[in-house]
Amino acid sequence: MSVSREIRPSKRAVKESSVDVREADADNPVVTLSDDVVTLRPWSRDDAGFMAKACADPAIRRYNGVLDRLGHPTPPLSIMDAEAVIDEFALNWRAFATTETPSGVAFAIMDARSGDLVGCCGVDDWSKADVAQFGYWIAASARGRGYATRAVILLTRWLFELGAARVFLTIVAENEESVAVARRAGFVYEGTMRSHGVWQGRRCDVMWFAALPLEWTMRGPDEQT
Ligand SMILES: CC(C)(COP(=O)(O)OP(=O)(O)OC[C@H]1O[C@@H](n2cnc3c(N)ncnc32)[C@H](O)[C@@H]1OP(=O)(O)O)[C@@H](O)C(=O)NCCC(=O)NCCS
Repeated sequence: MSVSREIRPSKRAVKESSVDVREADADNPVVTLSDDVVTLRPWSRDDAGFMAKACADPAIRRYNGVLDRLGHPTPPLSIMDAEAVIDEFALNWRAFATTETPSGVAFAIMDARSGDLVGCCGVDDWSKADVAQFGYWIAASARGRGYATRAVILLTRWLFELGAARVFLTIVAENEESVAVARRAGFVYEGTMRSHGVWQGRRCDVMWFAALPLEWTMRGPDEQT
């Protein structure tokens, strides 16, 4: 699997000959990751219609949306809401240009051949101790084709290249599809936080999965796709 990256010229980029620099604007880094089946690239405002439509899906609202304290989801995103989300991602990419830690950045997931948008993955947090957490979703019509697993592998590899000491996912225990993605992508189940989440007034368990750089590389996650 080849990984191509387009990133502004930075200390890191200059050192790595494999980096494909297509945009030299230091304020607007463009990072593209691909395995030739899926491509991850930053969101653009033109994608707002796709995001709003995809995020109306009940499973995305439940597992990726904002919930109130009783676990009721906020109303579906309008196109304007989606534009605001994308603007925030762009701000976080600009912050990444300075900090080199990718908290809050997100990628649109595309089918590499057709260019069709299929989903999203993004870094929720990068801690002071270099621990990264991320999340993902795939539009309902594009599920069952391996896009999520491939995107998780690409994003995990990129985070390790940036220096993450640990990458983890939290997944509601009844979200079997997402648990399967974590396992296929080589993440290790570490335990369950009982009653950690709430959905529609009902408590639910949340599972932890994590990958450590050396262990993950040794396990060969790519072979599992
Ligand atoms: C969780 C979610 C992203 C999983 O999507 P998915 O399409 O099932 O996952 P993948 O893209 O990895 O596809 C896996 C399926 O494609 C199949 N597949 C085909 N080619 C494949 C390949 N090359 N690699 C991996 N799987 C492949 C797998 O066998 C699997 O099919 P199965 O479900 O019948 O076993 C999706 O269900 C979703 O968006 N849910 C709502 C939001 C959500 O839960 N987000 C995660 C929050 S933690």
